[in-house]
Amino acid sequence: MTAHTGPILEGKGSTDYERYVRVPELLDLQKPVEKLSHPEERLFQTTHQAAELWLHHIDYEIGRVVAMLEAGEVPAAAELMHRCRLILDLLREQIVILETMAPADYHVIRTSSLGRGSGQESPGFMKLLEVGKRVWPLLTRLISSRGVSVLEIERDPRGHHELFRLVQSLMDYDEAFMKWRYTHMRLAFRIIGSKVMSLKGVPAAQLEAGTREPLFPELWEAISALTAEFKPTY
Ligand code: HEM
Repeated sequence: MTAHTGPILEGKGSTDYERYVRVPELLDLQKPVEKLSHPEERLFQTTHQAAELWLHHIDYEIGRVVAMLEAGEVPAAAELMHRCRLILDLLREQIVILETMAPADYHVIRTSSLGRGSGQESPGFMKLLEVGKRVWPLLTRLISSRGVSVLEIERDPRGHHELFRLVQSLMDYDEAFMKWRYTHMRLAFRIIGSKVMSLKGVPAAQLEAGTREPLFPELWEAISALTAEFKPTY
């Protein structure tokens, strides 16, 4: 009997693994070694390409969260928000790898390969800036249909256990996003400094504002309101 071990999927590549993952097409998206402006450019491009894939994936999961909130599926929505937070944590770890690049090497890449490119043009990042606007109205609608406010949930986390877990998952996500922005800002300052203008003429120091912009400001206000209720005397 002949063993059937060859690929059965359509596509490029000699194995089904390559055909499913689309490895040849994926690797084609990288600049060939001979065209790199500097050997360090590969790391720079890989990091950005991987980030775009993950950012795109978060946007996909947020679409599912939106549908779950509309359907009142609270634990499932909280679980997916948790997954998205883990992806943001991964992206933060990824940023740190670029800190191993020498600033002088980056300047070769910056001046010869990037055109007028700016991280602010990242389609994935722009989508993520909209997460607050997409999710918050649905959350408020859901909790008011259950007769509570965020502050009431915070006052009695065990009495509103499911909703508290959901609110916590949003806060975790929000915090992970700000931490990503902070880590990225530190990377930018470390590689090009805080006084430089970006390739679009924006001062790098403007990144600082983003590290203080929550996606769900009302959530953080509810925490302050809760603290005020305890009337601290210090
Ligand atoms: C050598 C490494 C890096 C440097 C020096 C750097 C530098 C900068 C600077 C100066 C800005 C602000 C002005 C502008 O838009 O040009 C910026 C924004 C941005 N960069 Fe980077 N970046 C680096 C790596 C990355 C990586 C790996 C990502 C991954 C996706 C990324 C994504 C972004 C995003 C999303 C913004 C907009 C951020 C915001 O508005 O808060 N950058 N970057």
